[in-house]
Amino acid sequence: MRKFLKVFILLSFLGSCNTGKQTAVPSQTLNAFQYNIQKKVIAENGAVVSAHTLASKTGLEILKQGGNAIDAAIATQLTLAVVYPQAGNLGGGGFFVARLSNGALVSIDYREKAPGNAGRDMYVDADGTARTDKSQNGHLSSGVPGSVWGIMAAYKYAKLPFEKLIQPAIDLAEKGFAISEREAKALNGLQDELKKFNTVMPVFVKAAKWQPGDTLIQTDLANTLKRIRDKGVAGFYKGETARLIVEEMKRGSGIISYDDLKNYTAKTRQPHTFIYKGYKIVSMPMPSSGGLLLHQMMKMIEDRNIASMGFHSVQSVQLMTEVEKRAFADRGEYMGDADFYKVPVDRLTQEAYLREKMKNYDPLKATPSHTIKPGLLLQPESTETTHLNVIDKEGNAVAITTTLNNSYGSKTVVGGAGFFLNDEMDDFSIKPGVPNMYGAIGGDANAIVPGKRMLSSMTPTIVLKDNKPFIIVGTPGGTTIPTSVFQTLVNIIEFGMSTEEAVYQPKFHHQWLPDTLEIEKGFPQSVGDTLRKMGYILALRSGIGRTELIRVLPNGTFEAVADKRGDDDAEGW
Ligand code: GLY
Repeated sequence: MRKFLKVFILLSFLGSCNTGKQTAVPSQTLNAFQYNIQKKVIAENGAVVSAHTLASKTGLEILKQGGNAIDAAIATQLTLAVVYPQAGNLGGGGFFVARLSNGALVSIDYREKAPGNAGRDMYVDADGTARTDKSQNGHLSSGVPGSVWGIMAAYKYAKLPFEKLIQPAIDLAEKGFAISEREAKALNGLQDELKKFNTVMPVFVKAAKWQPGDTLIQTDLANTLKRIRDKGVAGFYKGETARLIVEEMKRGSGIISYDDLKNYTAKTRQPHTFIYKGYKIVSMPMPSSGGLLLHQMMKMIEDRNIASMGFHSVQSVQLMTEVEKRAFADRGEYMGDADFYKVPVDRLTQEAYLREKMKNYDPLKATPSHTIKPGLLLQPESTETTHLNVIDKEGNAVAITTTLNNSYGSKTVVGGAGFFLNDEMDDFSIKPGVPNMYGAIGGDANAIVPGKRMLSSMTPTIVLKDNKPFIIVGTPGGTTIPTSVFQTLVNIIEFGMSTEEAVYQPKFHHQWLPDTLEIEKGFPQSVGDTLRKMGYILALRSGIGRTELIRVLPNGTFEAVADKRGDDDAEGW
């Protein structure tokens, strides 16, 4: 990929692993020090798309070694935990949505949980000040991590020995890989926070500036991965790794305990599904708002012939904006962990309810947010998360979105264990009913309770056509995730776009409050000008999301597209 990547060392990681139940092609090598980014591939046997080329290539090799899409997704996620530390993770959480070759639809919830010693007002000072500094950085901002449990829960659908899936990540952590220009920049920008929020200085701290092509070796992380390889869930939630996490908590006044770790479990849930014009959309249920919001938004446009309005026309953008606004108005009030709060999913998706919501829609002017729904406002979310998709020719399709919340999460690395902890506690409403430092307010549905999962926006989604995989899609981007997935699907299903266009075209985002329409760089200026005249307040954003998409073409081949907004990479064979 980049000329500056320097040393050429071949990492022949798969040849040295246990053989799986079948080997489709000879093992290949992964060059961790010189690699090309590929944005698009059309493949017959399987495809992987993720935020990092080394992760996508690892997934591809697993497919070639006879693994199915679940094997490849697990290997890709584990590799992201090494090569993409800002969002790939062991210390965070995520969601897995799959369509299995037998037609079964599965979702796994491995969202972080509030520790047992957490409390509703843990981020509120005696004088009533909401302490977002504590919910967004450092030890107290971390929920109990779920990623390792999620990976092991997904493994029951895999085929290859687990050692084979995790070994590439171990090798990349132990022997290192060349960081990209973007990664060097991110690490250089993080140095002060790393020093502030760590009790043991991690490998990411460097006296001189990080340069593109520098080798990042993560020995502690490799050892943590080896414990997971050898002991599975117990290699993380018990024993040495648990001890290192709890010791880290003690040093930094955090609250995650041995019991929190021991008691954590991922949950297999029924995916949130609905039909849109004959397509079956399969997405994530609570504690992610993603599937439900997508459902509401798509149903509110279904009978309005948006295709005839045209892509990026004033009419279609305005309709989608109003729909986004109305769906998000429900998020702050009704959505949270359904194990703790009764989320009225059926009522929120009833045809009559959605029709009623659109009653005050005026195609000629903006509906002010305060007239849509008075009440509770939203908790803002950060935009650093990561998404991956895999498909195989057996009919398995996997969409995973995983996150530490902010870029590099809490900025705290577990001393001796080498991985960042999340700052997912900030996805709770840290002070229900009272604006936090961003002026946002959250509700009871998403208030902190020990053991509860914080509300998410992640929207890993699979679209089925004739009950077979058609589109696999997802993106990072906090609250822009559901609106980006919405627009990407509308781009394909309604506007008939190519896969690349659907991913690359500028996006826009409205989340009810603040009452602002965010438009991405490249959004047509004339449309923006007209929308302003109609009463919208517009704000420019440099980028919205990093959408990854695999689409099954009419001839059965897989077209995988990686977003050009990052170093994302698509592989296939
Ligand atoms: N932390 C971002 C999300 O879960 O939506």
